Amino acid sequence: MKKSLFALMAILALSAMALSACGGQQAASGEEAEAKVEVPAAFKGKTNPFTNNADAAAKGKGIYSTNCASCHGETGKGDGPAGASLDPHPGNLVDAKAKGEDYLFWRITEGGMAAPFNSSMPAWKDVLSEDEIWQVVTYIQTFK
Ligand code: HEC
Repeated sequence: MKKSLFALMAILALSAMALSACGGQQAASGEEAEAKVEVPAAFKGKTNPFTNNADAAAKGKGIYSTNCASCHGETGKGDGPAGASLDPHPGNLVDAKAKGEDYLFWRITEGGMAAPFNSSMPAWKDVLSEDEIWQVVTYIQTFK
Protein backbone atom coordinates (compact mmCIF):
# COMPACT_ATOMS: atom_id res chain seq x y z
CA MET A 1 0.00 0.00 0.00
CA LYS A 2 2.70 2.47 1.05
CA LYS A 3 4.83 1.40 -1.88
CA SER A 4 2.11 2.01 -4.48
CA LEU A 5 1.32 5.40 -2.96
CA PHE A 6 4.97 6.32 -3.26
CA ALA A 7 4.99 5.14 -6.88
CA LEU A 8 1.88 7.21 -7.61
CA MET A 9 3.44 10.31 -6.10
CA ALA A 10 6.62 9.74 -8.07
CA ILE A 11 4.61 9.48 -11.29
CA LEU A 12 2.69 12.65 -10.47
CA ALA A 13 5.89 14.52 -9.71
CA LEU A 14 7.51 13.33 -12.93
CA SER A 15 4.55 14.25 -15.09
CA ALA A 16 4.38 17.69 -13.47
CA MET A 17 8.04 18.17 -14.36
CA ALA A 18 7.45 16.97 -17.89
CA LEU A 19 4.50 19.34 -18.29
CA SER A 20 6.40 22.36 -17.04
CA ALA A 21 9.33 21.50 -19.33
CA CYS A 22 6.97 21.50 -22.32
CA GLY A 23 5.44 24.79 -21.24
CA GLY A 24 8.87 26.36 -20.97
CA GLN A 25 9.79 25.30 -24.49
CA GLN A 26 6.60 26.72 -25.93
CA ALA A 27 7.06 30.07 -24.24
CA ALA A 28 10.59 30.29 -25.61
CA SER A 29 9.57 29.52 -29.20
CA GLY A 30 9.16 32.50 -31.51
CA GLU A 31 6.40 30.78 -33.43
CA GLU A 32 4.31 30.40 -30.31
CA ALA A 33 4.73 34.09 -29.47
CA GLU A 34 3.85 35.05 -33.03
CA ALA A 35 0.67 33.03 -33.09
CA LYS A 36 -0.75 35.16 -30.29
CA VAL A 37 0.26 38.50 -31.78
CA GLU A 38 -2.54 40.97 -32.50
CA VAL A 39 -2.08 43.73 -35.06
CA PRO A 40 -1.96 46.98 -33.00
CA ALA A 41 -4.92 49.36 -33.28
CA ALA A 42 -2.89 51.92 -35.27
CA PHE A 43 -2.42 49.32 -38.04
CA LYS A 44 -5.43 47.03 -37.71
CA GLY A 45 -7.68 47.03 -40.76
CA LYS A 46 -5.35 49.09 -42.97
CA THR A 47 -5.80 48.17 -46.62
CA ASN A 48 -3.32 48.15 -49.47
CA PRO A 49 -4.00 51.07 -51.84
CA PHE A 50 -2.19 49.16 -54.63
CA THR A 51 -3.86 45.72 -54.52
CA ASN A 52 -3.23 43.88 -57.83
CA ASN A 53 -1.51 46.96 -59.27
CA ALA A 54 1.24 45.58 -61.55
CA ASP A 55 3.18 48.84 -61.60
CA ALA A 56 3.29 48.94 -57.77
CA ALA A 57 4.29 45.26 -57.64
CA ALA A 58 7.18 45.97 -60.05
CA LYS A 59 8.35 48.87 -57.86
CA GLY A 60 7.96 46.65 -54.81
CA LYS A 61 10.09 43.99 -56.45
CA GLY A 62 12.95 46.46 -56.85
CA ILE A 63 12.66 47.57 -53.20
CA TYR A 64 12.47 43.94 -52.08
CA SER A 65 15.56 42.83 -54.04
CA THR A 66 17.61 45.69 -52.58
CA ASN A 67 16.41 45.57 -48.97
CA CYS A 68 14.80 42.25 -48.12
CA ALA A 69 16.08 39.40 -50.32
CA SER A 70 19.40 39.12 -48.44
CA CYS A 71 17.50 37.70 -45.46
CA HIS A 72 14.16 36.54 -46.85
CA GLY A 73 15.42 35.09 -50.15
CA GLU A 74 14.52 36.20 -53.70
CA THR A 75 11.29 34.21 -53.65
CA GLY A 76 10.35 34.96 -50.02
CA LYS A 77 10.99 31.48 -48.67
CA GLY A 78 13.28 32.75 -45.92
CA ASP A 79 16.39 31.36 -47.57
CA GLY A 80 18.46 34.50 -48.09
CA PRO A 81 22.20 34.14 -47.34
CA ALA A 82 22.15 36.74 -44.54
CA GLY A 83 19.16 35.07 -42.89
CA ALA A 84 20.59 31.57 -42.60
CA SER A 85 22.18 32.00 -39.16
CA LEU A 86 19.54 34.30 -37.65
CA ASP A 87 17.51 33.18 -34.62
CA PRO A 88 14.62 33.77 -34.88
CA HIS A 89 14.89 32.85 -38.53
CA PRO A 90 13.42 35.18 -41.22
CA GLY A 91 9.76 34.40 -41.76
CA ASN A 92 8.59 32.54 -44.82
CA LEU A 93 6.78 35.40 -46.53
CA VAL A 94 4.80 33.01 -48.69
CA ASP A 95 3.05 31.85 -45.48
CA ALA A 96 3.01 35.33 -43.92
CA LYS A 97 0.67 36.53 -46.69
CA ALA A 98 -2.15 34.69 -44.92
CA LYS A 99 -1.72 36.88 -41.83
CA GLY A 100 -3.26 39.80 -43.72
CA GLU A 101 -2.03 42.97 -45.40
CA ASP A 102 -2.46 45.08 -42.26
CA TYR A 103 -0.15 42.58 -40.50
CA LEU A 104 2.45 42.78 -43.30
CA PHE A 105 2.34 46.58 -43.39
CA TRP A 106 2.74 46.74 -39.60
CA ARG A 107 5.62 44.25 -39.43
CA ILE A 108 7.56 45.94 -42.25
CA THR A 109 6.97 49.41 -40.74
CA GLU A 110 7.90 48.55 -37.15
CA GLY A 111 10.26 45.57 -37.60
CA GLY A 112 10.92 42.99 -34.93
CA MET A 113 13.45 44.52 -32.54
CA ALA A 114 10.94 44.75 -29.67
CA ALA A 115 8.93 42.06 -27.85
CA PRO A 116 7.33 39.72 -28.64
CA PHE A 117 9.51 39.20 -31.74
CA ASN A 118 12.96 40.19 -30.44
CA SER A 119 14.39 39.53 -33.90
CA SER A 120 16.76 41.20 -36.31
CA MET A 121 13.92 42.17 -38.67
CA PRO A 122 14.67 45.88 -39.25
CA ALA A 123 12.03 48.63 -38.97
CA TRP A 124 11.62 50.27 -42.36
CA LYS A 125 9.59 53.36 -41.41
CA ASP A 126 12.63 55.66 -41.52
CA VAL A 127 13.96 54.10 -44.74
CA LEU A 128 10.90 53.55 -46.92
CA SER A 129 7.85 55.78 -47.41
CA GLU A 130 4.37 54.41 -46.63
CA ASP A 131 3.77 54.05 -50.37
CA GLU A 132 7.01 52.12 -50.79
CA ILE A 133 6.05 49.77 -47.94
CA TRP A 134 2.68 49.15 -49.60
CA GLN A 135 4.50 48.50 -52.91
CA VAL A 136 6.60 45.83 -51.16
CA VAL A 137 3.41 44.38 -49.65
CA THR A 138 1.92 44.29 -53.17
CA TYR A 139 4.99 42.38 -54.37
CA ILE A 140 4.85 39.95 -51.40
CA GLN A 141 1.19 39.30 -52.29
CA THR A 142 2.39 37.90 -55.64
CA PHE A 143 4.55 35.25 -53.89
CA LYS A 144 3.46 31.65 -54.41
C1 HEC B 1 18.55 41.37 -41.44
C2 HEC B 1 17.62 40.41 -42.01
C3 HEC B 1 16.27 40.92 -42.50
C4 HEC B 1 16.01 41.87 -43.47
C5 HEC B 1 17.01 42.65 -44.29
C6 HEC B 1 14.58 41.93 -43.59
N1 HEC B 1 13.98 41.06 -42.72
FE1 HEC B 1 11.98 40.71 -42.52
N2 HEC B 1 12.35 39.42 -41.00
C7 HEC B 1 13.60 39.05 -40.55
C8 HEC B 1 13.46 38.07 -39.49
C9 HEC B 1 14.61 37.43 -38.73
C10 HEC B 1 12.07 37.85 -39.32
C11 HEC B 1 11.37 36.85 -38.37
C12 HEC B 1 11.20 37.37 -36.99
C13 HEC B 1 10.09 38.40 -36.89
O1 HEC B 1 8.93 38.11 -37.23
O2 HEC B 1 10.39 39.51 -36.44
C14 HEC B 1 11.40 38.74 -40.27
C15 HEC B 1 10.03 38.85 -40.39
C16 HEC B 1 9.38 39.55 -41.39
C17 HEC B 1 7.95 39.58 -41.59
C18 HEC B 1 6.93 38.87 -40.72
C19 HEC B 1 6.83 37.44 -41.20
C20 HEC B 1 5.82 36.60 -40.45
O3 HEC B 1 5.71 35.41 -40.80
O4 HEC B 1 5.17 37.06 -39.53
C21 HEC B 1 7.73 40.32 -42.71
C22 HEC B 1 6.38 40.62 -43.37
C23 HEC B 1 9.00 40.78 -43.19
N3 HEC B 1 9.99 40.31 -42.37
C24 HEC B 1 9.19 41.55 -44.32
C25 HEC B 1 10.41 42.11 -44.70
C26 HEC B 1 10.56 43.05 -45.78
C27 HEC B 1 9.46 43.47 -46.73
C28 HEC B 1 11.86 43.42 -45.79
C29 HEC B 1 12.53 44.45 -46.69
C30 HEC B 1 11.91 45.77 -46.78
C31 HEC B 1 12.54 42.68 -44.75
N4 HEC B 1 11.62 41.90 -44.10
C32 HEC B 1 13.91 42.74 -44.49
C33 HEC B 1 14.81 39.49 -41.03
C34 HEC B 1 14.99 40.44 -42.02
